[in-house]
Amino acid sequence: DESTLVLGIETSCDETAAALVLGGNDVVSNVVSTQIDLHAEFGGVVPEIASRAHLDVLNPVVARAIVEGGVDESRIDAVACTVGPGLVGALLVGVSAAKSLALAWDKPFIGVNHMEAHLYAASLEDPTLEFPLVVMLVSGGHTMLIEMRGHGQYVLLGQTIDDAAGEAFDKVARFLELGYPGGPAIDRAAMLGDPDAIPFPRAMKDDGLDFSFSGLKTAVMNYVRKHPDVGDADVAASFQMAVVDVLVHKARKAAKQVGATGIVLGGGVAANSLLREELLGACETDGIQGFLPSREMCTDNAAMIAAAGWHRLRSDGPTPLDVGATPNLRL
Ligand code: KG4
Ligand code: ZN
Repeated sequence: DESTLVLGIETSCDETAAALVLGGNDVVSNVVSTQIDLHAEFGGVVPEIASRAHLDVLNPVVARAIVEGGVDESRIDAVACTVGPGLVGALLVGVSAAKSLALAWDKPFIGVNHMEAHLYAASLEDPTLEFPLVVMLVSGGHTMLIEMRGHGQYVLLGQTIDDAAGEAFDKVARFLELGYPGGPAIDRAAMLGDPDAIPFPRAMKDDGLDFSFSGLKTAVMNYVRKHPDVGDADVAASFQMAVVDVLVHKARKAAKQVGATGIVLGGGVAANSLLREELLGACETDGIQGFLPSREMCTDNAAMIAAAGWHRLRSDGPTPLDVGATPNLRL
């Protein structure tokens, strides 16, 4: 209930995170330790390095979340942890730790779906969600449009048939040598460029609610090879505009199709400046609500895990301890 305090743990990719959340939406503490520096020289997440780094820092990160929360550990009512989707070795570190804590404290364990947690990030800051909603999840691994009919009730409306939106950002940034992670680097570079400079393709824009981003990535590479003198800023801005144009167009179409009261944005790409601006503008035009989590809640964190865990505990009760890390878990 409202007084249930959940410890959330997240280790599915390259952030080690722990948080305490009260009653499903009151963030008591939220600690994130990022491994970005460890992976930067490789231009992407190296699974072995990720697992090792999670092992090194998870205990101190959990301890800090408890200290910063100013509570005694005996006050914690349940332990929620991402069980998938994600890197198997990375997931295992968090899942083993969460189960051990739950056993040691004799408290329920809650296995959380990482994508479902991204969708709860918005409700952490604005708990007034009215269903049905359209949720657009855009991360490094996923691009999905979901109709949310209630807590835990999802209908998949569309998804990418090849690269995820974040993956496209990361690959284009790598090609332009703008640095890692690619999303924030393109976001910054695009601020100095002209979004209309290059008419990159809007793949599948008028075909249903699925997405395709691999052709766009190839189009960027071909263009730059043919026009070696073009400025990175114009390429970044035009690429970003092409992605955002398609994302916003389809989110609106989905919202109209299901009669949604609003659109919720989630996942790392939801931190993108242009996407946030364009989506809010579109929602205003259409007379529906736009829910944008703050940038720190968009990228991986454990507060969203604890929040999703709270809802899951309320609807389904504790997760059996034989449920383990599930790298390709679906929503
Ligand atoms: O949700 P997330 O933190 O991890 C996954 O579950 O994948 O998302 C990471 C993705 C990366 O592809 C990253 O480049 C992208 O989110 N991202 C952004 C921005 N910040 C992070 N993409 C575009 N603009 C940003 N500002
Ligand atoms: Zn994520």
